Amino acid sequence: MNKKFYITTPIYYINDVPHVGHAYTTIAADVLSRYYQSKGEDVFFLTGVDEHGAKIAEAAKKAGLEPKAFADSLVPRFQEAWKNLNINYSEFFRTTNPIHEKIVQDLILELKDKGFVEKKKYSGLYCTACEKFLQPDELVDGCCPDHGTKPEEHSEENYFFLLSKFGDKLSRAIEAGDYEILPESRKNEVLGKIKNGLEDVSISREKVEWGIPFPSDENQTIYVWIDALINYWSATKIYQTNNEKLITNSNSETADNSSLFAVNLDVWPPNIHLMAKDILWFHAIIWPAMLMALDLPLPKKVFAHGFFTVGGQKMSKTRGNVLDPNALVEKFGADAVRYALLREFPFGEDGDISEEKIAARYQSELSNGLGNLLQRTLSMINKYEIDLSSRTCFGIPEEKRDSGSESGMTENNDKISKLIEELKFDQALQEIASGITKLNQYIEENKPWELAKTDQAKLAEVLSHVHAGLVDIAPQIAPFMPETADKMKKQLETLVPSPLFPRI
Ligand code: MSP
Repeated sequence: MNKKFYITTPIYYINDVPHVGHAYTTIAADVLSRYYQSKGEDVFFLTGVDEHGAKIAEAAKKAGLEPKAFADSLVPRFQEAWKNLNINYSEFFRTTNPIHEKIVQDLILELKDKGFVEKKKYSGLYCTACEKFLQPDELVDGCCPDHGTKPEEHSEENYFFLLSKFGDKLSRAIEAGDYEILPESRKNEVLGKIKNGLEDVSISREKVEWGIPFPSDENQTIYVWIDALINYWSATKIYQTNNEKLITNSNSETADNSSLFAVNLDVWPPNIHLMAKDILWFHAIIWPAMLMALDLPLPKKVFAHGFFTVGGQKMSKTRGNVLDPNALVEKFGADAVRYALLREFPFGEDGDISEEKIAARYQSELSNGLGNLLQRTLSMINKYEIDLSSRTCFGIPEEKRDSGSESGMTENNDKISKLIEELKFDQALQEIASGITKLNQYIEENKPWELAKTDQAKLAEVLSHVHAGLVDIAPQIAPFMPETADKMKKQLETLVPSPLFPRI
């Protein structure tokens, strides 16, 4: 059986249409997913939406709709955006899925049975935009540091998960590497917070109606974050059940179901949870503690990337600088948006993006860099009537070729793979970009247009070398720019050039 690779994005709040921040994480997950798939692993790539809680209920009310109808109206907007960006997810999860609702209730009961749930009175400052209680020392001028709004005083009787019991166990697990928190600086931050002491967390809400009913207490609703985190677990159960059914059915109908059996059905635990730093706390502390309480295996890796600003400012509706991923795709194409977002700054750090920055990358590295290299190489091969069939690289089908053997890129391939596995996407792309620059320079240095007059053998050698280099670049860029990689492969085979990145 193939190795399995289970990767998740956060499930995004469905209070509005998706923006480029959501796209950023989802693109990164898609790149990893395509990369591991190309290595022959069975990838389960989960994304979806977070539909319950006060935040969604408020947005629905504003829109004059019932929460479920409101969420239904927005789901296609997310799916459309992901389709436009060529996101190849395995499962689009909705927390209103009744099977999920039942699983969440069952797990809460199990936590209760195991003695990890208690009912207590609680008062605190609640930020609905964050869907969490804030500590007084977190506030900036009395407001939420992320949303700039005043939190509300909430005083209610809730059920609590006894998180305070898990501090030592969590620290030990993190230090032993049972689950990794990355980047390293985030891990230290989390360990520091645990050291300062963990408080129990409320897992129910008294006055929020839009949510999963708390089992055996009609007056309470399950806290949206607990509901949301459990999506990672219930999605695997739902997937497993659906596929077992598929296998049973196909078993009785046809004999040929071998491909289905090759698929891993038991995908738990996740190999990596991806998110930004804003919600690391939930993923690196609360979620692993819940899993420990339930005796379930922990995720292997939790990676928190940075937050970006747009044109130097925090993205917000009031500033009017929210970037719509669909509009970006319309303008630059999916591949260029995927490339530019991950190329701009290190994945684990904060950074800045803007339409101008995407345009600049498009122009310099994609249009003038890769696009031009392919175009001029194919044109010269045609013009000088170079016969590539006699060259070793092209007599042998791609899958039988030693990757990189022809252009000396084997070492380069290993480096790029390692960078992708470490989520250093900007560096992996830098590496690819410099490979492209080198080939363009190689052409400049060897001047095929002059060789055409003096040395036919050398001319054929030079152009074959560049062609081989491009053959190697196609799979390198494939996880980042799948469409471009396909176009390249086709053009390199047919030798019919057509612009990869036309001028805008
Ligand atoms: N619903 C919760 C997540 C539950 S997961 C069990 C939630 N949703 S959210 O819609 O607010 O999404 C937050 C996530 O969106 C971030 O963690 C990040 O993945 C992405 N981003 C939103 N804005 C972003 C930026 N400005 N920059 C980078 N990532 C951004 O929290």
